[in-house]
Amino acid sequence: MARAISSYVCQECGNSHPKWTGRCEGCGAWNSIVEEAAPDAVPKGLKGKKGRHINLVSLRGEASKMVRHKTGIQEFDRVCGGGLVPGSAILVGGDPGIGKSTILLQVSAAAASQSSQRCIYISGEEAIDQVRMRADRLGLADTPVSLAAATDVRDIVATLEETEGSAIVIIDSIQTLFVDNLDSAPGTVGQVRASAQELIRVAKRRGFALILVGHVTKDGAIAGPKVLEHMVDTVLYFEGERGHPFRILRTVKNRFGPADEIGVFEMTDMGLIEVSNPSALFLADRDEDVSGACVFAGIEGSRPMLVEIQALTAPTSFGTPRRAVVGWDSSRLSMILAVLEARCGVSTGTHDVYLNVAGGLRIGEPAADLAVAAALVSSLNGTPLPGATVVFGEIGLSGEIRQVSQSDLRLREASKLGFSHAIIPRPGRQRGENKRKSGIEIVTTEIRHLDDLLGLIRPAHGGGAPTLREASHG
Ligand code: TYD
Ligand code: MG
Repeated sequence: MARAISSYVCQECGNSHPKWTGRCEGCGAWNSIVEEAAPDAVPKGLKGKKGRHINLVSLRGEASKMVRHKTGIQEFDRVCGGGLVPGSAILVGGDPGIGKSTILLQVSAAAASQSSQRCIYISGEEAIDQVRMRADRLGLADTPVSLAAATDVRDIVATLEETEGSAIVIIDSIQTLFVDNLDSAPGTVGQVRASAQELIRVAKRRGFALILVGHVTKDGAIAGPKVLEHMVDTVLYFEGERGHPFRILRTVKNRFGPADEIGVFEMTDMGLIEVSNPSALFLADRDEDVSGACVFAGIEGSRPMLVEIQALTAPTSFGTPRRAVVGWDSSRLSMILAVLEARCGVSTGTHDVYLNVAGGLRIGEPAADLAVAAALVSSLNGTPLPGATVVFGEIGLSGEIRQVSQSDLRLREASKLGFSHAIIPRPGRQRGENKRKSGIEIVTTEIRHLDDLLGLIRPAHGGGAPTLREASHG
């Protein structure tokens, strides 16, 4: 009888080891290695049987036209690239309790009630009664969603194979499923990989859109294997700050649409509500005349979005000054502090610096540099920025302000929300003279160097309120 061979697989990175160790050599994680049954050995070479000839075809051809299923929840459709593609697999990751089950129940209910096709919700985490209770609370109890509580992939696959006319199948979550051929526990890399593989295969064959919920590790990556992200067509992350009502569904990968798209929701006691005008919401509680606050005109995916960036600087009470950042990259903050010091002589060495993006949004764009610098300088000087002003621009290491993409889109959103001024990078000569599209009614102050920004935000005691009009271009 053949001896059962097991391998030791890291649950963080998927690396396999010949024997158990406390620390994974691949990713350095401690206590992440679990014994799993080794997958079937790969056949040795291709000796023996001859393969079948594969047809090679040209790129142009009669591709069957993709008809996307609109779920009816627009923010969700948007992050999926305009609806769910039949036969595709989508992975939704996010912290526990962020609202993954809630949004997917709402998606399935919305989709089921507006199409004649079947929407199936399979819960491996909650019992039927618990899901029903939630549906009741959300006012969705009467929608024609087909519900099941199951964890055995064999049963689930058999059911999906036999059910006609399914359009959307939701699995909550992939970490609770198991394939009975494997000895390892549910949630281990081997099980997650095998379960996902089986389900994706049925989805492709039967042409339904498969949505998998994935747990995340303490670092925020989707738990278990990165391979799961490779296997699916679309990866979405559901994020948000605890204690904030806003939730953001972000596309990280999408084979059928643009990545980096976001959908914004608000968590209420009636479930998640779509926010179609996020800028207005993110700016709702803004106080205009405080120092250290600056409105950044950003772009998330295809959509302009205004958010407030807040900075607080306070004298350090202990030896080393603190730097704390919420919603932005902390190394980027260090860079801006360094540029301010080296190129403009603004020192923060004796100050604690706190930076916050209001509303719980996470910004990744370098275009926020100038807004961050403006908030910092405003806080250091104790001078509020001129009212009704938005800021954007990238800062280079020599202190130069660089152009960013889609200025017009940013300015149009700002003008739509009642902003009358903008501090933006000055276009280089080769980019053509200031060709602004008509219909954007906003006065822009174009600056080329960080020093120009300091000129606009002078210390409170140093000579009157700042005026933007001095250097204005229309
Ligand atoms: P849930 O969808 O269970 O999170 P996940 O599946 O990502 O773990 O969300 C649970 C949280 O959402 C819980 O903390 C309560 C909150 N919630 C509301 O605020 N309102 C609601 O209507 C619902 C259903 C949940
Ligand atoms: Mg859940």
